[in-house]
Amino acid sequence: MQDVLHVNGGTPLHGEITVRGAKNFVSKAMVAALLGDGPSVLRNVPVIRDVGVVTGLLELHGVDVVADTQAGVLTLDPSKVESAHVADIDAHAGSSRIPILFCGPLLHRLGEAFIPDLGGCRIGDRPINYHLDILRQFGAIVEKREQGIHIHAPRGLFGTKVELPYPSVGATEQLLLTAVRADGITELTNAAIEPEILDLINVLQKMGAVISVDTDRVIRIEGVPRLSGYRHTALSDRIEAASWASAALATHGDVMVRGASQPEMTAFLNTFRKVGGEFEVEDEGIRFFHPGGDLRSIVLETDVHPGFMTDWQQPLVVALTQAKGLSIVHETVYENRFGFTDALRGMGATIQVYRECLGGHPCRFGQRNFYHSAVISGPTPLAGADIEVPDLRGGFSHLIAALTAKGSSSVRGIGLIDRGYEFFTEKLTALGAEFSRD
Ligand code: EPU
Repeated sequence: MQDVLHVNGGTPLHGEITVRGAKNFVSKAMVAALLGDGPSVLRNVPVIRDVGVVTGLLELHGVDVVADTQAGVLTLDPSKVESAHVADIDAHAGSSRIPILFCGPLLHRLGEAFIPDLGGCRIGDRPINYHLDILRQFGAIVEKREQGIHIHAPRGLFGTKVELPYPSVGATEQLLLTAVRADGITELTNAAIEPEILDLINVLQKMGAVISVDTDRVIRIEGVPRLSGYRHTALSDRIEAASWASAALATHGDVMVRGASQPEMTAFLNTFRKVGGEFEVEDEGIRFFHPGGDLRSIVLETDVHPGFMTDWQQPLVVALTQAKGLSIVHETVYENRFGFTDALRGMGATIQVYRECLGGHPCRFGQRNFYHSAVISGPTPLAGADIEVPDLRGGFSHLIAALTAKGSSSVRGIGLIDRGYEFFTEKLTALGAEFSRD
């Protein structure tokens, strides 16, 4: 794998790119196929490494996966689902967070599941206590073993009432994927209601599930004894769309993002406008551009949906280094998502991180020792540097910084970006970026 990108920055990004299905939906919809008793067809699937990881895990469990990568279509046939060998599953340890979501479907199909140590981006502790508590509440027995977690449900799974301490995306998905075929009614309060979750509910409803999303973050599921396959087109990737939008803004560029969808991006679009970026919403996508003049500083707080997504924060912070004045960003979803700013400081940005909850409401990290607020003073010219990709979104931010900086940069560990950004080097070429990969 070619893992270093040499970027000659300072050229505005101009042109058109396309985003396909959302990474954080597609991987879950693939897991949902395990619940059906016939094949499912998922469209608008991007070519990203996370899809490959979930494909590998499904295949280990006997699911027949046929991919037409160019058309973006996956056919998933779970009719021969079987237990996988622990050693084979363990080979996937550390590569993704998705294995934890296999629990409910595998418990329904096979009565047991084995979960290896999880991977995913290092942006906080990322515990799985909510997931395990939920599975126990359904009646599963959870045993921690040396290589991972073994879960079984000798008497079956039963509907239950769950209240989440925090509206976790993964825990809400865990509950949905388990409750749809559990015996009886399940009610979840303080559920996450991200668009990717609502689209997963669409998929499950197509399969035969009975799910209602009530006001105030309450989701009710009436368990059914069997589910069929589904045919579904994934909603588009609003994190990728916002990442390219931030790249357009930071580089003084103009990028048409085909496939970007306004309803899921309302909070981002409001913020983009407040910073001084402009956008035009078309039927086929959204054009994001820097209209000239100064960008403006802002006060921003990340939050669960419908707030400003934590995953939009890192790319936008690079654009904020180019805004006039002091911007304040309070990260309330993950306790440790400002590590990427070290490299930006090395490139000339003025960013300080604080333990206090700055510029917004006190959050659950306020009394703890986490650097979860940042103050960015701009505009500061960025200079090319040798930088290392820390995680997926932080890595894309480094890439934006390298594209914005005058001079040449080497961005190492660029393979991490393939986890969630489809054909990103091809897209950079289409937008006129000057770079080479080796
Ligand atoms: N949390 C717990 N215990 C749990 C689960 C979560 O304390 O058992 C905490 C987390 O530590 C975190 C907060 O709850 O502080 C929110 O975590 P959540 O469960 O919502 O996140 P996730 O499901 O692990 C998904 C996305 C992330 C995205 C978050 C928030 C996937 C595969 N990942 O993670 O995406 O940031 O929701 O929207 O869907 C990315 O795409 O780069 C990425 C990190």
